[in-house]
Amino acid sequence: SSKPLVIVGSIVQDCVSYTDRFPKPGESVRGNDFKMGSGGKGANQGVQAAKLGALVTMIGRVGNDMFGDANISNLKKAGVNVEFIEKSETAPTSVACITVDNKGENSIVVTLGANLELNVERVKELEDVIAGAAMVMCQFEVNEETNYAAFEIAHSHNVTTFYNAAPGKPGMDKEILKFTDILCTNENETEFLIGRQLSSIEDFKEASRELLQYGPKTIVCTLGAKGVLVTDKESIEHVEVPRVKAIDTTGAGDSFCGSLTYLITKYPNKSIAELSRIASKIASMSVQKHGTQSSYPSIAEVRDNEIEL
Ligand code: RIB
Ligand code: NA
Repeated sequence: SSKPLVIVGSIVQDCVSYTDRFPKPGESVRGNDFKMGSGGKGANQGVQAAKLGALVTMIGRVGNDMFGDANISNLKKAGVNVEFIEKSETAPTSVACITVDNKGENSIVVTLGANLELNVERVKELEDVIAGAAMVMCQFEVNEETNYAAFEIAHSHNVTTFYNAAPGKPGMDKEILKFTDILCTNENETEFLIGRQLSSIEDFKEASRELLQYGPKTIVCTLGAKGVLVTDKESIEHVEVPRVKAIDTTGAGDSFCGSLTYLITKYPNKSIAELSRIASKIASMSVQKHGTQSSYPSIAEVRDNEIEL
């Protein structure tokens, strides 16, 4: 369709240090390399979708500073519509200090800055943009009320909603699930939403079935190397994911979500399980390169990698 994917979400300047191992509290370790890049879960998902060919509009907020300009121009370069990104005079552009160890694992401190000023009023002002979307997607790096308002508007216009409840936290709000069509969570986020510890695949299947009762039509639960569970009222499918050597897994979940939303809007007759299989192959390409957005493959690279699209 010619309708855009609308993202109400975060824009973050990523500052990444590569080390052999994570420092312990009170310890300094030497970094081997340092890279800056554009990040933020909202922007990452939008850029991945755009790199595959999606029409993407981003609703977001940065500070009136160097990082804000750099991130907006990067989004523009990826083909994302940036006309609804505002600059704050009161909060800085969000920054994430990311450490990646030699196993490709990361730990992140993200200061959300201007993202937290993206408010309900702004979303309501942009009702027409949301109403005209092929799909609306949110993550959990802006205020819960903002996401809720965006989905409430989308729902009232019969626009499909995709919620990536990341990064989760204990006691996160489940109210938004009543306006969520597709919920995507990883292991932690599933535990936070369900309010108990989960370990076996069976546990996650049961949790997914429980989450359906809050409103979503489909639960996409990513279990790292153990694959992806796709659950709806009729069935649960367990999708296997490729095994690759990770260099930097930062933002791989965003590559997955951005790819999946694009694929769902592009191939509405294919099952979400089938499309999750493709999205996880695309995400596995991203972990073999440094960085977040800079590591996301384009449609040409995806096809070169013999992923059928
Ligand atoms: O999901 C990865 C993203 O989370 C990074 O780009 C960083 O900005 C953090 O917010
Ligand atoms: Na990467």
